[in-house]
Amino acid sequence: MDLLTLKTWSSDDILATVEEGLSVKHHPERYKDGLTGQTLAMLFQKASTRTRCAFEVGIAQLGGQAVFLDWRTTNFALADIQDEAQVLSRYANVIMARMLKHKDLQSLAEGSEVPVINGCCDRYHPCQALGDLLTMLERQGTLEDVHVVYIGIWNNVCNSLVVACTKAGVRITVVTPEANGPSKDDALIQEARTSGLFAETLDLDTAIADADFVYTDTWIDMEFFMDPAYEAEKNRRVEVFSPYQINQSLLEKTDALVMHCLPAHKGYEVTSEVMAGERCIAIDQAENRMHIQKAILMRLVGPERAS
Ligand code: CP
Repeated sequence: MDLLTLKTWSSDDILATVEEGLSVKHHPERYKDGLTGQTLAMLFQKASTRTRCAFEVGIAQLGGQAVFLDWRTTNFALADIQDEAQVLSRYANVIMARMLKHKDLQSLAEGSEVPVINGCCDRYHPCQALGDLLTMLERQGTLEDVHVVYIGIWNNVCNSLVVACTKAGVRITVVTPEANGPSKDDALIQEARTSGLFAETLDLDTAIADADFVYTDTWIDMEFFMDPAYEAEKNRRVEVFSPYQINQSLLEKTDALVMHCLPAHKGYEVTSEVMAGERCIAIDQAENRMHIQKAILMRLVGPERAS
């Protein structure tokens, strides 16, 4: 079993992993030998703070070890990706990869003889979405009747959040005037529309009125934010998305808590004031990445792993 996208995971897979994430968080001692002697290979084509550290610390807490590989200093950059993945899978029990393109992640998984986890690609961010369900569950005590409103650009984080919520019984409304090109997945949207839990609108005030959580993400991919060649597109996006900023005046219209997968571009999709405010739970989300990623590892390669 891999975790490339939550589209291939059942509702039971998702809910059981989130429940286990909560158990991992509250009873870490029960899991301290869960993956003794196992090795996680972590391959990164892009920068990371949360994903890398949460996996590296997480597997150590389970009794295993992590090996970090920067794509640029391996022969992945030069060789056949499937050959390199097959070799890597002879050293490691599980591989986590943060790839620029989902199709390269799929290719890597085809070559691998061990489970592969998507550590965020251009289309999906399943570890983030599972961690977010854990954060919602611990705040609300249940996922039933929970309503999250995702505001801003439709992207990889939004894709995975929509799948995670609709499969976990969480109501999700998206207020997304535009999508980030590579993340477009028409089949995913069609599936969400049949769930009865998904809504789309640009009427922000109405959407947030009964929201339990409002969620946003950067309008501009981190690697492009300071890129002079991206300046015109950055300015265009700021113009389009500024009315959808999460700020204090928006929060006066809702009791919702504020979620952000981080890192944030303060002053753009969210203000510094909101990020520092009591209703922002982004740091809890970041912490929960570790607990959920331990649960994911247990599910994929633990003694009672799912088939
Ligand atoms: N949210 C997230 O995946 O953070 P990193 O890019 O720091 O891993």
